[in-house]
Formats: sequence, structure tokens, C-alpha cells
Amino acid sequence: MAQSNGKTVLVTGGAGYIGSHCVVTLQEAGYKVIALDNFANSVDDGCDGSIALKRVEKITGEPVTFYKCDLLDTVYLERIFQNHQIDSVIHFAAMKAVGESMQYPMLYYKNNIIGMINLLEIMKKYNIYNLVFSSSCTVYGEPEKLPITEEKRIGQSITNVYGRTKFFIEEILKDVTNSDDKWNIIALRYFNPVGAHGSGLIGEDPTKQFTNLMPFISQVAMGKKEKLTIFGNDYDTPDGTGIRDYIHVMDLASGHVAALHKLEKSHIQIKAYNLGTGRGVSVLELIKTFEQTNNVKVPFTFEARRHGDISTMYADPSLAERELGWKATRSIQEMCSDFWRWQTMNPVGYKTVLTNGHNH
Ligand SMILES: NC(=O)c1ccc[n+]([C@@H]2O[C@H](COP(=O)([O-])OP(=O)(O)OC[C@H]3O[C@@H](n4cnc5c(N)ncnc54)[C@H](O)[C@@H]3O)[C@@H](O)[C@H]2O)c1
Repeated sequence: MAQSNGKTVLVTGGAGYIGSHCVVTLQEAGYKVIALDNFANSVDDGCDGSIALKRVEKITGEPVTFYKCDLLDTVYLERIFQNHQIDSVIHFAAMKAVGESMQYPMLYYKNNIIGMINLLEIMKKYNIYNLVFSSSCTVYGEPEKLPITEEKRIGQSITNVYGRTKFFIEEILKDVTNSDDKWNIIALRYFNPVGAHGSGLIGEDPTKQFTNLMPFISQVAMGKKEKLTIFGNDYDTPDGTGIRDYIHVMDLASGHVAALHKLEKSHIQIKAYNLGTGRGVSVLELIKTFEQTNNVKVPFTFEARRHGDISTMYADPSLAERELGWKATRSIQEMCSDFWRWQTMNPVGYKTVLTNGHNH
């Protein structure tokens, strides 16, 4: 059990992939955590609780106060603020499926943007101004220069609605900060989070259809899917496949604690930081590392490039290192082995009954 630092953080989307891993790191850093989620893309325990967060409690030995709450339900949301003395908010809750966002743009704009505005209004009402926002490298659109620094103008050539919700929210946050300098906000632009907590107890288990690469690789390795489809082998990269900056989810989680510490120490109004490793890895390289690390086979086929996919994307993470004192430390091998441990210990995700007879 960690020593309390006397501070309370509200984590929205806390039952989700990154949120649940971040709760572990927050509790280990001494924060008291209040989490909310509407289970739009996470697994409930049948009694309005989160299986992921019950497992987090097992890992840390600390309780997580949880509310099943939709950010669009302002009456219920306000009750949480009435019940707790909150110091800061980390806002993960959003819909994130790129394809779905193109099919249902209004659903995405409503959920992500109105959800953010509701949260900002209630935070202001209760005099809470410290906010960490989950942004994404998609706000950069097609890069002209690599690695990408935070100085690159955002909002140009974004190819999907999901990415635009992140860009619009960053713009809203700037306007809100300009209107009232009490706000103290960090937007973290994540590159490609993968991996799982080293215990194998928590990991990525989306309830919606997923398009992220590592869950697909591991489903093929498990034999649940016959082959992995790689979209595009004719990019201008050494092996022809797309290059991304994969970052271990626990490194990403510690980036949030670093951001909170920054907000507690200084009043920066609003600032964005890249969270990546600074290293680009191709799809083929990731598959090969996954196979070698876990001693499995991942058959694949190539298909044509998908419209809107970018060839190469990796971060310059040096601003976060200089100003937040944060750096990603975990290797691609660790990302692959930790994800595989989670997947093999939980072949059907959080619905798996663990060998001790409990699933939470
Ligand atoms: N995973 C990635 O590749 C990635 C990359 C960049 C940015 N992000 C951002 O990071 C954040 C967390 O992503 P994740 O991968 O953990 O996704 P996730 O889907 O696992 O987690 C998001 C959680 O928010 C909840 N949620 C959605 N709308 C809600 C609402 N209106 N009210 C309450 N809860 C709601 C979902 O049920 C889910 O549990 C998101 O904002 C996402 O856009 C993710």
C-alpha cells in the first residue's frame, strides 16, 4: 500500500484500457482515485461495477471508488462532485473507433465534445481547474517532418471524425483557458499505446469491434483468427509497411502522474505534450518481435492501403522529458510479452474466470 499524498483525482473512463492502468499508477503514487465510466467500451461486473477496477484493487491493495456514470448525464455527474473533494481530473472518457466515427459522426461529436463541455462546466462550478486531457497524435494529421514536435500546427489534414473531436477539444480548452486564467490544463498527445500491466490481471478488452494492431496480432497468435491483414506493403519505409511509435501502456500511465505533478507545482494555463518513445517500429517489425518474444506464429496477408492511413508517425518526446521529467523506459519486447501474458491468462478478456475461481 502506498503512502497517501492527500490528493484526490477523478478519472473519467477509468474502466477502460488506459484509464484502468493509470489508476494503478495513481494509487501507487499515493492518490486517492474516484473513477467513472458508462461501460460504452468496457466490461461491467453485472452490478454496475468494473471488473478491471476490481482487479486494480487486487494489484494495489487500495480501494477505487467507482460510479457508473455517463458524462452526458449532468445531474448524476454533479452528484459525484458534491460527494467528493476532488483536486484534479484526468479525462479519458471518449469514443475512439476511427471507422465508427466516420459512420456516426454525430454520436462522436456529442459523446466526446459535449461530454468534455459538461465536465468543464461542473469542474468550474466546484472550483476545480486542474485537468489532464487524453489527446492523440492524430491531431497532427499527415506529418511533413519527423519526429513530430508539439510545435507542428494541429488540425490540418485530419482524416477522420474521431481525430477531429480531439482537435476541436484542444481548441475549446484553449478558448476556455483564455477566458479564465484559473484553468491549468495539460493535453497529452498519445502515440500508440500497447501492452498491459505486468501482472496479467488487467489489459485491453474493448467491447466494441477493435482495429488496434496488437490485439489483432495476439488473436491470430491464439488461433482465434486465421490471419492478420496488413494494409499496405508499398509505403516509403524500409520494409514497405507503416511505421508507428508504440508506447507501453504503463509508461503512458506514469506520464499522467508526471503531468499531475506538473499541474500541482506550477500554473501553466494550457500546454500539450507528446507521449511516445521517439522510436518508429514497422508493422512487420512488431509482428516479428511478438513472434520471437512469445514463441508463437502470426500468419499474415497484405491488402491495399486504407484510405487516410499515414505512412510514418513517431514522436519527439523530449519536451515531456525536459518539462515533466518523464521518459518511456519499456522496450518493444516488454510490450509484446506483457500483452501476451494478459491475453493468455484471460483468453476471453475480463469475462475469464481466473484460476483462483474469481473473476474480480
Ligand atoms: N488507445 C489508443 O490507441 C489511444 C490513442 C490516443 C488517444 N487515446 C485516447 O485515450 C482515452 C482512453 O482510451 P482507451 O484506449 O483507454 O479507450 P477505452 O475505450 O478503453 O476507454 C475509454 C472509456 O471511456 C468510457 N466512455 C466513453 N464515453 C463515455 C461517456 N460519455 N461517459 C462515461 N464514460 C465513457 C468507455 O466506456 C471506456 O471505458 C480516450 O480518450 C482515447 O481517445 C487512445
